[in-house]
Amino acid sequence: MSHYKPDPNKNVNLTIDGIAVTVPEGTRILEAARKVNVCIPTLCEHPDLCKRGVCRLCVVECDGRGKLLAACANDVWEGVNIVTNNLRILGIRKMIVELLLANHPQECLSCIRSTNCELQTLAADFGIRESPFRHDAADRRPPVIESETLVRDMNKCVKCGRCVEACQEVQTIRSINSSCRSIHYGISAPYHQSLAEGPCVFCGQCAAVCPVGAIYGHDQTAEAWIALNDKNCHTVIQIVPSLSTAVNDALDLPAGTVSPGVMITALKRLGFDQVFNSEIVMNAATAKENGELLNRIKNGGKLPMITVCSAGGIKFIADSYPDLSAHLSPCSQSQQMLSALARTADSSPITAITVSACIAQKFKYLRSAAHSPDGHDTGLTLTVSEIVRMFRQGGVNVAGLPEAPFDVFPGEAPPENKTNFENLRDIQEGIQKSEINLQGTKIKLLTVYGFAPARLIMDSIRKGECDASLVHIMSCPWTGGQQPCKNSN
Ligand code: SF4
Ligand code: SF4
Ligand code: FES
Repeated sequence: MSHYKPDPNKNVNLTIDGIAVTVPEGTRILEAARKVNVCIPTLCEHPDLCKRGVCRLCVVECDGRGKLLAACANDVWEGVNIVTNNLRILGIRKMIVELLLANHPQECLSCIRSTNCELQTLAADFGIRESPFRHDAADRRPPVIESETLVRDMNKCVKCGRCVEACQEVQTIRSINSSCRSIHYGISAPYHQSLAEGPCVFCGQCAAVCPVGAIYGHDQTAEAWIALNDKNCHTVIQIVPSLSTAVNDALDLPAGTVSPGVMITALKRLGFDQVFNSEIVMNAATAKENGELLNRIKNGGKLPMITVCSAGGIKFIADSYPDLSAHLSPCSQSQQMLSALARTADSSPITAITVSACIAQKFKYLRSAAHSPDGHDTGLTLTVSEIVRMFRQGGVNVAGLPEAPFDVFPGEAPPENKTNFENLRDIQEGIQKSEINLQGTKIKLLTVYGFAPARLIMDSIRKGECDASLVHIMSCPWTGGQQPCKNSN
């Protein structure tokens, strides 16, 4: 067992490719190199995950010794002279990429990650057009669609282990792990079950960290086109106004080209009957939840009341804390709320589509018939990338379109959400504490980012130690100040 504990207040002097640099003790070779603008190629390394040193692409020479060290997994030390780039190192890195390609389906053209794949970028950077190693296409297993949310194509897995760590350590769900040995080594759920049969909550964090097209969000643009072309179906869509910025960026247009109004016109050109503002739907959902919460407080109902950002949170409680399921709010998710609010005067079926930045929103998990959408209505969630694909497929040139207003819901306007947030405190270990004022009643709210902190809170509820009245579980972990919900692909 190692007793090495770096002291971040102590500095270490070293050279990288002959350039002198001083960094705090405990700095990885990779980070020290970046400080002097030396970019060592990586594949298994990910800034939000632990050191692992699996792929060996980042190897460097230290003090001229024959043994190479993984720059992502080893810290610098006083006086070391590091070489990141010579013929030997380049040759090793190139061979690693060639070996990975030899075992990889040769179908970049049709891969969802094409142009956004770390292996493809490495192959291009090393000038590899063809792997000199034999490619055996006979073992190709078909990709598996999991609960209409994720696609797993293990033929493309480069065995970096990022997804396993995201699931096991970051989310503590432990749905997937490495399995088998040698050429059969891969990533799977226990006994090669489907993800839905195990504890998977379809948070999409495995897809968010996968460097290649081995795990990704299920593309539902074909289903959306079918709904749009069904003359008997009323197809509505809800968007958050701020998503227009993400669409703007995805289309690589000058800042401000795609405003919410331009998005509305573009979506109508695709054939949507009505385009609604998600904020109004969310306000209506929150107002309903607030009513349920006040009712529980006044009448001694189960507290804290638990709300979730996606259906994965409901499955998490059903799988891991079934004894606490009465704490869940019975209110509908925003997709079902959209369907109910958009109900037309005639009784044509509604397809309610939500655009979200997050693939976790695609997952549907119904607690009971009472939580299913109205009889014949259907719904699906498209990510920003999917909606951009639809603009391209439908030939809608978004730049220069006129603006249009959001549609208004028929009948009564949905109630406004009058929640006042107070005393928002810093996030600690993924848990944000706030106080909200609901019609004069002060309520303690815990917002929990990711399933690891959610487990802490659920355990405290079980022990009767949670003094909050409301707990909101977000599927995505808080990653060092970055916004969660970054798993759209
Ligand atoms: S979706 Fe989330 S819970 Fe399911 S395997 Fe991926 S990381 Fe694990
Ligand atoms: S599925 Fe993706 S993240 Fe998981 S080990 Fe394979 S390549 Fe890495
Ligand atoms: S990136 Fe360092 S070993 Fe994979």
